[in-house]
Amino acid sequence: MPANIVVGTQWGDEGKGKIIDIIASRADIVVRSQGGNNAGHTVVSGGETYKLHLIPSGILYKDTPCLIGAGVVLDPKDICSEIDNLSQRGVTFDNLKIDPRAHVIMPWHITLDGLSEKFRGNSDIGTTKRGIGPCYMDKYERCGLRVYDLVHPEIFAEKARATGKLKNKIITEVYGGEPHDIEAVIAEYTEYGKKLAKYVDDVSVIVYNAAKANKTIMFEGAQATLLDIDFGTYPYVTSSHPVSAGVCVGTGVGPMMITNIIGVAKAYTTRVGKGPFPTELDDEVGDTIRNKGGEFGTTTGRPRRTGWFDAVIVRHSVRVNGLSSLAINKLDTLSDIGTLKVCVAYKKPDGSMIYEFPPALEELADCTPVYETFKGFSGDISSCRTFDELPNECKVYIERLEELCGCPISMVGVGPAREQMIER
Ligand code: GDP
Ligand code: IMO
Ligand code: MG
Repeated sequence: MPANIVVGTQWGDEGKGKIIDIIASRADIVVRSQGGNNAGHTVVSGGETYKLHLIPSGILYKDTPCLIGAGVVLDPKDICSEIDNLSQRGVTFDNLKIDPRAHVIMPWHITLDGLSEKFRGNSDIGTTKRGIGPCYMDKYERCGLRVYDLVHPEIFAEKARATGKLKNKIITEVYGGEPHDIEAVIAEYTEYGKKLAKYVDDVSVIVYNAAKANKTIMFEGAQATLLDIDFGTYPYVTSSHPVSAGVCVGTGVGPMMITNIIGVAKAYTTRVGKGPFPTELDDEVGDTIRNKGGEFGTTTGRPRRTGWFDAVIVRHSVRVNGLSSLAINKLDTLSDIGTLKVCVAYKKPDGSMIYEFPPALEELADCTPVYETFKGFSGDISSCRTFDELPNECKVYIERLEELCGCPISMVGVGPAREQMIER
């Protein structure tokens, strides 16, 4: 019973959607376990580009059940429009299931996300403003609304009235914002609940039964390790657990069920939003990578910050996720860039070297990256389908990344399409 997890190993947008789409072709079910519509996963299939936010990337395989687990936060308005938009493109949703335990992003969460970011001023996190943090806050405060509530109108109205009153008080009295019309919100969201009711089912039971029946399961990670609430660059992180262990709590499966954990990285590094980024390139090379790689946010359209591959952070990801292998995407973007650099360690002001990613920003602030340089490559590699077809410089680069990260590289992406992938 192979159960595969796909996780991001950097700061997100590593091309997880593409890897998930490839592996989903061999999976019997696809499951998402954390995060919400802060994610933006791109799948290029049959010449068409799909940008998926909450719907698992396996949805393009019409017979593959796609499940949304208990650890996800679900914006009912957004998922309804995602379903409508994809339906218009011929995608079917007969196999979509949503766990009743998943928490619901309410409009006041979105308002509070915006207001708290504004209150932080220059110290803002640069969130996607989708209400993710405030929704997870309510979950852990134990006052959240769940999908179960959403599809039971009377329960929903009662709970939404109680929590909405408190949220309005915080919005108006703490932040000086505009209150929500709670009865209008209840009326609107009850309609979403009616639309979503047919999808609600116990995902942990479905996954368990699939595992017992020896089916192949694919767990789709969103966000990434360096955005993990514990193992990321706190506080510049998201509010969930994108690391592999998050799959177990977010889906309701035991760790012994997992057989394979694939980490996805880019051949360089990007980050959207604020926070430390040791190998960031604030120069022409960074601009070239951004433009060549189309590095603009899938969810918010923000330009992504770009920088060299950082083996210290990917090594950290190999460890905290227990990775079985790595997939390295966007090698093609690095062609014609000239000399390439990879960060192999950090150096402290006293000259000492750091090989493990520091736990606090204060320690990281003192660190400067130590680089190894590589001969660059040129030309179009997007039609290479075997490792041997790649220019020698590419092979040297990938083999050295493998060594530095301490993890086999099983896939190398040379373009956005499904087939633009070298499997080793
Ligand atoms: P995700 O959030 O990890 O799923 O990644 P995103 O979809 O947000 O961003 C990755 C972007 O890179 C998308 O536009 C993909 O189509 C694209 N992409 C993925 N793999 C490759 C690759 O190997 N080469 C190129 N050129 N683009 C890729
Ligand atoms: P995928 O799944 C890249 C970032 C935001 C911000 C921080 C907190 O497409 O890789 P949040 O709205 O979650 O409270 O924002 O996390 N962030 C992402 N960055 N890819 C993502 O998802 C992200 N999801 C959240 O930019 O810095
Ligand atoms: Mg993305």
